[in-house]
Amino acid sequence: MYDEPAPVGRSFASDNAAGVHPAVMQALERANHGHALAYGNDPWTKAITARLREEFGGAAEALLVFGGTGANLVGLRPFVDSYQAVICAASAHIWLDECGAPERFLGAKLIPVPTKDGKLTPQAVQPYLRGFGVVHHVQPRVISVAQPTEWGTVYTPEELTELAELAHNHGMVLHVDGARLANAAAALDLPLEALGAATGIDVLTFGGTKNGLLAGEAVLLFDSERTAAAAFFRKQAAQLASKMRFLAAQFDALLTDRLWFGLASHANAMAKMLAAGLASLPDVSLAQPVETNVVFAQMPAGRMTALQARHPFHCWDEQRSIGRIMTAWDTQEADVEAFLLAAREVLNGR
Ligand SMILES: Cc1ncc(COP(=O)(O)O)c(C=O)c1O
Repeated sequence: MYDEPAPVGRSFASDNAAGVHPAVMQALERANHGHALAYGNDPWTKAITARLREEFGGAAEALLVFGGTGANLVGLRPFVDSYQAVICAASAHIWLDECGAPERFLGAKLIPVPTKDGKLTPQAVQPYLRGFGVVHHVQPRVISVAQPTEWGTVYTPEELTELAELAHNHGMVLHVDGARLANAAAALDLPLEALGAATGIDVLTFGGTKNGLLAGEAVLLFDSERTAAAAFFRKQAAQLASKMRFLAAQFDALLTDRLWFGLASHANAMAKMLAAGLASLPDVSLAQPVETNVVFAQMPAGRMTALQARHPFHCWDEQRSIGRIMTAWDTQEADVEAFLLAAREVLNGR
C-alpha cells in the first residue's frame, strides 16, 4: 500500500503534460493495420513528407524524428564541423536544456548571447561574428533561434529574413528550433509557408509533440546539398524510426483541416486569458507580454509555492520569483478559472 498523493488541479507545468489529441489517436489506429515497409519506406511517410515540404513553401527534405532535442541535432549536424560554432540565445533550449547533446553530437561549440526577451537581433549577434578565417578562433557557422522563443516571444517573417541575410552574408546558416512553431504561426495568424522557405532560413524543426501528438517532430531542410547527410545523421542520432508510419500518421492528422493551427490558437488564447486574470491580481505582475502559450508571472515567493501545490507549474527564475505557467491544446476555460481562483485564494491568504 502507498499513500495517495493529495489531489491537485490541472497542471500548467508544460504543454508536454497534455495528452494526445483524439484525431491523432484515430490516425494511429487507422495506420495500425497490416504490415508496412520500415524506416520510412511506407506510403504514409512518403505522402506526409511530400506534404510537409510543400506546406513550408518548397523544402528540399522533410525528415520525421521522435523528439525536439533529436530534431535539433539532426537539423544542426549537417551544417556544423568541429571547428565551427552555433550562436544562440542564452535562454535557448539547445544551450540550457539539452544536457549538452548539441555539443556532444556536433562536437562543436555553442555561443550563448544574452537577450532581454529570448530573441536574437542582428545587433545582438554582430559582436560574435568575428575571427573568420583565423585558425586560432572557432568559426561562427550557425545562428540558431527558437520560434517561438523559450520566453514565448515570436519572430516576424521579416525578422527571420534579416537574421538569415546576416548569416548568409557571413557564410553562415540560420537554424530555427520550432518545437512550438505552430504557436508562433497561430500568434502571427500566418500559414506555415510564411515561416519556411520564404524567409530564407536554412533549416527548421516543426514540433508536433507539444501540440497534440504522442511523439513526433519534423526537420525541414531548405538546402538540397545537405539532405543526404541529414538522413545519415538522423540514424546516428537514434532518430530513425523503424515503424515510421506511426510518426507519419500523426502528422497527417495534425495537417488535416489545419488541426495544428486550431490547437495552437486555442492554447495561445488560454494563455492570454490566464495572463489577463493574473495581471489583475495584487502582488502579481507579468514578467513578459504574452504572445503564445506561456505566461511568466512574478509573485511573492512563498505564495508561489502554495499555488504550485494547487496547480503544478515551474519556477522559472527563483531569484526574481517568476513562475512559468503554460497552457496546452487541451486547457479549458474552466481550468484557467480554477487556476485564477486558486491564485486569488493563495494571494489573499498572505
Ligand atoms: C524550444 C524547445 N526546443 C526543443 C525542445 C526539446 O524537446 P524534447 O523534450 O522533445 O527533446 C523543447 C522542449 O521543451 C523546447 O521547449
